[in-house]
Amino acid sequence: MHIDILTVLPALLESPFQHSMMKRAQEKGLLTIEVHPLRQWAVNEYGQVDDYQYGGGAGMVMMCEPLANAIDSLSKQRKYDAIIYLTPDGETLKQSRVNQLSLQQNLLLICGHYKGIDERIRANYVTHEISIGDYVLSGGELPAAILVDAIGRLIPGVLNDETSALTDSFQDNLLSPPVYTRPEDFRGWKVPDILLSGNHKLIDEWRHDQAMQRTQERRPDLLKD
Ligand code: ADE
Repeated sequence: MHIDILTVLPALLESPFQHSMMKRAQEKGLLTIEVHPLRQWAVNEYGQVDDYQYGGGAGMVMMCEPLANAIDSLSKQRKYDAIIYLTPDGETLKQSRVNQLSLQQNLLLICGHYKGIDERIRANYVTHEISIGDYVLSGGELPAAILVDAIGRLIPGVLNDETSALTDSFQDNLLSPPVYTRPEDFRGWKVPDILLSGNHKLIDEWRHDQAMQRTQERRPDLLKD
């Protein structure tokens, strides 16, 4: 998979993909990520990419021209399966959307800033608008990093134990059951006996019950979906 990211703050995206699974995915050649500074396509020598909004009001808007030129230029190199704008008024990101995007070949992510991007780019280029939650961040870079991480770890071969993605919270609309590691007894707090029993059938049943119970208590909305 290849992911291009358009941003006015490329430095914010330098580190997130250089560690752990995203690093491994790139080293294995399963994922390539290219961060493109939008100012390359600025409208003037001052690097301008934003302007005042029509109708008045506080806050700048990211202009059509740099974004359209950037997208046109990148689209000459590859055909995008999705052009995604990260924005708080987009569809709230869910595992089902992550799963679907992880099956694509080429993605282009657009990070917004200030008041956002000119509506005409959203109307004419963007195929998906994604929010990472009902709160407003100062820009789309951290949401883009989150989206890439969520997608990247699902690419086959990225996780060491491929089945582990299948047992993630949300993959079956259930939260994950509790997990324990050594020691069996820590300050008198014991690991549930069943996990030490060696009976895998009973352990699977226990885990499923725990996942159901946890979901019921914490996220009953997931059980309705
Ligand atoms: N940009 C600012 N806030 C955001 C959010 N919650 N999700 C996606 N992009 C954003």
